[in-house]
Amino acid sequence: MHRPPKHCFAAFVVAIIILISVGWLKWNSLINTCNVVLPQTVVYSTATCSSPTKQYVPRLVLTTSNEKLVDFTENLLRSIEKTKTYPVLIVDAEDETSLRALSNHTYPKLHFRNSHDVSKLKLLLEYLQLGLEVFYVNADAYWFRDPFPYFEGSFDFALTKDRPRVWNVGLGYYKPTHRTLQFLKRWIELLETTKGSKEQDILNKLLSSRYIPDLKIRLLNSENFPNAGYFFPMYPALEKCRIDTSDTIVFFAEYIANHTEKKTALQKCKMWINNGTVGF
Ligand SMILES: *[C@@H]1O[C@H](CO)[C@@H](O)[C@H](O)[C@H]1NC(C)=O
Ligand SMILES: *[C@@H]1O[C@H](CO)[C@@H](O)[C@H](O)[C@H]1NC(C)=O
Ligand SMILES: *[C@@H]1O[C@H](CO)[C@@H](O)[C@H](O)[C@H]1NC(C)=O
Repeated sequence: MHRPPKHCFAAFVVAIIILISVGWLKWNSLINTCNVVLPQTVVYSTATCSSPTKQYVPRLVLTTSNEKLVDFTENLLRSIEKTKTYPVLIVDAEDETSLRALSNHTYPKLHFRNSHDVSKLKLLLEYLQLGLEVFYVNADAYWFRDPFPYFEGSFDFALTKDRPRVWNVGLGYYKPTHRTLQFLKRWIELLETTKGSKEQDILNKLLSSRYIPDLKIRLLNSENFPNAGYFFPMYPALEKCRIDTSDTIVFFAEYIANHTEKKTALQKCKMWINNGTVGF
């Protein structure tokens, strides 16, 4: 019987050792991100790293603020603090006013970026490329409970829907898979090259064209992640609040364009806990 020469076997062993080492390094680089060096040399650490019971997931929350959204952003921060989850939070402050107003905030893991002419999608891509999972929420959101258990499992990104075939970008959880990165790059490219296009329209076009056929997109249902259309039973009248919020995880005020009306609606439904003091 023909036997393979000895050096073949040696080469095989070496190959296996290399594979295991590469895998180990990659795994380590993925989990040893307790001290992530973010662009602009922001260094942060998280207490969750030392928790032996829960597997540490390197992730952050990203939101966009500006002069008009400062009070909503503060309200959002308060609601997150109430859930006692304290995720690392990056505020993309679009102007000086919002940056100044929020910079004294005592939220323990708050960092600022200014994306300037870079779109929020580019910031998102940047963090994903660092291997982080990113939860994007609009600043006019309100957290009822810790959302992270809803983002466990295998998928590329998770979004809510406006209508049967229309996905919404006001809130989304993105995992740094190669499919997510590839999708996001194309999304940004189209946004930059299609005049007058909107993020959400491009997203929906890409999804319906099945740009990435094996993309795993998870639906975040409206029961857990309601927008205004779902939360207010008499919508577009905003007088009546949803009574049972035991399954509500994160509300986002999508569909209410008017700032005053939006604030009144949140106040009416006990989602306004910002008493106007920065740095609480
Ligand atoms: C932030 O804190 C600094 C230093 O304590 C203070 O000078 C500044 O007025 C504060 N800014 C706001 C907007 O509260
Ligand atoms: C927003 O709503 C308030 C109250 O209904 C109204 O007074 C105000 O004119 C509205 N603002 C805009 C820009 O439509
Ligand atoms: C705002 O709320 C905080 C916490 O509940 C409280 O300590 C503070 O006194 C309040 N400030 C005002 C101006 O009501």
